[in-house]
Amino acid sequence: MDKLLVYGQQKLMGKIPISGAKNAALPLFAASLLTSEVLTLHNVPPLSDIATMAELLTCLGTHYKSDNLSRDEMTVHLQADHVENLVAKYELVKKMRASILVLGPLLARYGHCRVSAPGGCAIGVRPIDLHLKGLEAMGAVFELQDGYIDAKAPHGLNGAVFEFPIVTVTGTENLLMAATLANGTTTLINAAQEPEIVDLAECLISMGAEISGHGTSTITIKGCGELHGATHKIISDRIEAGTYALAAGISGGDVELVGENLSSLLPTFLETISRIGLDVTPTEAGLRVRSTGSLQPIDITTAAFPGFPTDLQAQTMAILCLANGVSNIWENIWENRFIHVAELHRMGANITVSGAHAQIKGVQQLTGAQVMATDLRASFSLVLAALSAKGETLIDRIYHLDRGYCNVTEKLADCGVCVQRVRG
Ligand code: EPU
Repeated sequence: MDKLLVYGQQKLMGKIPISGAKNAALPLFAASLLTSEVLTLHNVPPLSDIATMAELLTCLGTHYKSDNLSRDEMTVHLQADHVENLVAKYELVKKMRASILVLGPLLARYGHCRVSAPGGCAIGVRPIDLHLKGLEAMGAVFELQDGYIDAKAPHGLNGAVFEFPIVTVTGTENLLMAATLANGTTTLINAAQEPEIVDLAECLISMGAEISGHGTSTITIKGCGELHGATHKIISDRIEAGTYALAAGISGGDVELVGENLSSLLPTFLETISRIGLDVTPTEAGLRVRSTGSLQPIDITTAAFPGFPTDLQAQTMAILCLANGVSNIWENIWENRFIHVAELHRMGANITVSGAHAQIKGVQQLTGAQVMATDLRASFSLVLAALSAKGETLIDRIYHLDRGYCNVTEKLADCGVCVQRVRG
């Protein structure tokens, strides 16, 4: 397993190109199953999760072609004109839970499919009951057999009114995609409002779907008989942008994040890091984020968009470890998303966790150590801590990092920071 060696006390100075959003790309790949024509996606990030989704679609029978436009960006052509195998197998679903995104499109287009039930993962139990309840409201029937969800829509899917009891991002995406091919109109109430949902809806509209209200909590979809091919450019990855903003802040650096609409993608986060003491200014190409020397403590509660994103919680905790006082974080989305705390302790952090609450007492200095990445976002929190620390840090299990951050060593090197991938 590869490791990452990070030399401490290095400042990020320069420009970071922000890649396309992983969590927008994954549902967009699944949306290709809704038509027999070609869906072309620009600004696809070269990540291992994207490769897993491509493998899943290929196993189903989709034609997949990718052109590497640059180090950080691919254009991908997907054509689901010969889907014969309607089974999403365990080996792929267990690798990446977002595989569940093929359920809605397959059911809507073919009337049946078999998708491995995704298990839990490090950050939480991660049920999919709301995906299933929503599709049931549209006429689907599910049976669990041998760890697989056998899905059928004997009379096709029909439009329905479905209210999510809690906001779910991929749940909203699954129903949104399924509803585009259903008979009649579907209304999704208490739908997720994340920018990735808006991006998916925009792409579906360019494929011929009739959708309104995306970006608000009520989405209306008028089902139509079929969708056609389209070309779509994926939005910038707001979580990658936020992560590198924190890298500038924790290292005492000054970076320009180059990407589109970053301010509107990260409203609460940018306001929060300004209160921590980072200077954030919009530029023509994106955002400039600069350390002002001191870090202030702050209280954060994670929430669905437009609230503070859970996917930036671990990384923000790393910077708060060095703030001048006591900070508090309440993690409201995932029940087990403080696993990085034990690793930050090994680097000298002073954090106390009680249930969904973490109290972080700022320390003067973190120190390098051997640590282990436990999930995707947690792994970058360790990179951030390591950048500020005294001495070297060796981070094990960085396959987690590769799932969602592309070309980390190269992007950091562009900003004058040396980290080394140790093959193993
Ligand atoms: N939930 C249910 N039942 C469901 C679905 C969700 O109880 O049927 C609960 C979950 O247990 C959780 C909450 O609802 O407590 C929100 O979960 P959600 O369904 O929104 O999460 P997700 O769609 O599985 C996406 C992102 C995650 C991100 C969350 C929250 C993708 C592929 N994944 O997951 O991203 O943390 O939304 O914003 O879009 C990451 O990129 O590191 C990552 C984990």
